[in-house]
Amino acid sequence: MATLSSGPSRFMPRLLGMLVVLALAGALLVQWLVPGGGADPDNAAQVATGRQLYGQYCVACHLGRLQGQPNWEKRLPSGRMPAPPHDESGHTWHHPDQVLFGIIRDGMVPPHAPAGYQSDMPAFGEQLKDEQIWALLAFIKSHWSPKIQAWQEDKTRQY
Ligand code: HEC
Repeated sequence: MATLSSGPSRFMPRLLGMLVVLALAGALLVQWLVPGGGADPDNAAQVATGRQLYGQYCVACHLGRLQGQPNWEKRLPSGRMPAPPHDESGHTWHHPDQVLFGIIRDGMVPPHAPAGYQSDMPAFGEQLKDEQIWALLAFIKSHWSPKIQAWQEDKTRQY
C-alpha cells in the first residue's frame, strides 16, 4: 500500500544525490582524460609560463607574433612544409586540444600524420613536461578571439 513516505518527497532527495554524484564523476573523468588539467587561456599564470617556453622552444620557427614562416602554405624546396601560424590566420585552432598536445609531444607521427611523413616539427616529449605543453597551448589560445576559443573548446569536448 502506498504511503506518503514512499512518495516523491522521499524519493527526490535520493535522486538529486545520485545526480550530484554522477556530475562529480563526470568532472573527474574529464580531468583524467585531459592530462595535466588542460590549457586555459584565461589563466594568467599558465599563459605567462607558456609565453616564456614559446620564446625558448618555438619562436625560431613559428615566429614572434605566432605568424608562422613566410609562404607557410607552400612546400619548401626540401619537400617539407614550413611552420604554420598559430594565430587565427592558420589552422592550429581547427584542431582539438588532444591533437595539438599530441603533435607537440610526439611530432608529426600517426595518428596526426601518415606513417613515414617527413616534417621539420620536432617532438618535444623528451624536453617538456605535460604541464609545460599545456602552458604552451594556453599561451597559443590566448591569441584567439573569444569566438574562436569557444569553437575550439567545443571541438575539444567532442573529441
Ligand atoms: C624547427 C622548427 C620548429 C620548431 C622549433 C617548432 N615547430 Fe611546430 N611546426 C613546425 C613545422 C614545420 C610544422 C608543420 C609540420 C608539417 O606540416 O609537416 C609545425 C607544426 C606545428 C603544430 C601543428 C599546427 C597546425 O596548425 O596543424 C603545432 C601545434 C606546433 N607546431 C607547435 C609547436 C610548439 C608549441 C613549438 C615549441 C614547443 C614548436 N611547434 C616548435 C616547425 C617547428
